[in-house]
Amino acid sequence: MAIRIPFLKSKNRKRSTIQTNESLPGHVAIIMDGNGRWAKKRGLPRAAGHKEGMKTIKKIVKKAVELKLNVLTLYAFSTENWKRPKSEVDYIMKLPSEFLDTYLQELIDNNVQVRTIGDFSALPVHTQKAVQTSIDETAQNDGLILNFALNYGSRNEIVGAVKDIVHDIEQQQMSKDDINEEAISERLYTKDYEDPDLLIRTSGEIRISNFLLWQIAYAEFYFTEVLWPDFDEIEFEKSLIDYQNRKRRYGGI
Ligand code: IPE
Ligand code: IPE
Ligand code: MG
Repeated sequence: MAIRIPFLKSKNRKRSTIQTNESLPGHVAIIMDGNGRWAKKRGLPRAAGHKEGMKTIKKIVKKAVELKLNVLTLYAFSTENWKRPKSEVDYIMKLPSEFLDTYLQELIDNNVQVRTIGDFSALPVHTQKAVQTSIDETAQNDGLILNFALNYGSRNEIVGAVKDIVHDIEQQQMSKDDINEEAISERLYTKDYEDPDLLIRTSGEIRISNFLLWQIAYAEFYFTEVLWPDFDEIEFEKSLIDYQNRKRRYGGI
C-alpha cells in the first residue's frame, strides 16, 4: 500500500510516498517540543500551546495505528520540567485526564495499549489516576503501544538500573560477571520494548534533553523546525519517508 503525499517536495527525496510494506520503524520516539513558542507567537498563554499540542497527539496516534507501528513513545514531561512555574506544571498535570476523558474510548476502539515510562509515583495523584485508568482499560488490547514518558529522565533511569544491579549482587542473585548490556536494558523502564528506530524532535532544538540515552544508541534522528502543535500527519509521514531513505549500518558496511 502506498500513501501519496501530494505536496511533498521531492528535491532531497528518493520517493515521496510511504511504502508501508517495507522498512517502517517499529518504535518511534518523539520529543514533543515547541508548545510554548507556538502560543507565544499567537500572543496566547503557554497553556494554550499545551492544549493545542494534545490535538497533535491524537493525529499522530491515529497515523501510528494506521501504519501499524509497534510502539510510539511520547516525551510528555521530563524530570527537569519540574523547574517550570508551578502554575504551568499544574496545568500540564491536568492534561492527561482531559486528554483521556475525551479520547480513551477511541484508544480502546483502536486496540491501543496505553503505557508509561518514568517515575509515576511522583506525579500528582489525580494525574496517576487518570493515566492508570487508561492503562487498565487498554490492558487487554494488543495493538499500538502508546507509551507516555511522564516524569521521565534517562540519567535517573540509568541510576535506578545501577542500584538494582548492586542490590542483586549484594543479595547474591547475580555476580559482577553477569553485568552486561542486557542486564542493564532489562532494568530500564523500556525493558519490554524494542529500542527506538526513529527519534523525532520538533521545534528546531537539536538536543536530546535527557530522553532515552541508552535506548537511542542506534536510532535514526529526525529534527524539524515545525512546532509540536503544527506537527501533523503529513509532517509525520515526511519523517517516516526520511527514515525509509536512511541506510542503517550499525557499525557494519
Ligand atoms: C513541550 O513544549 C512540552 C513540554 C516540555 C511539557 P514546551 O513547553 O517546551 O515549549 P517551548 O519549548 O517552550 O516552546
Ligand atoms: C523536552 O523539552 C521535554 C519534553 C518535551 C517533555 P524541553 O522543552 O523541556 O527541553 P529543553 O529544556 O529545551 O532542553
Ligand atoms: Mg521546550
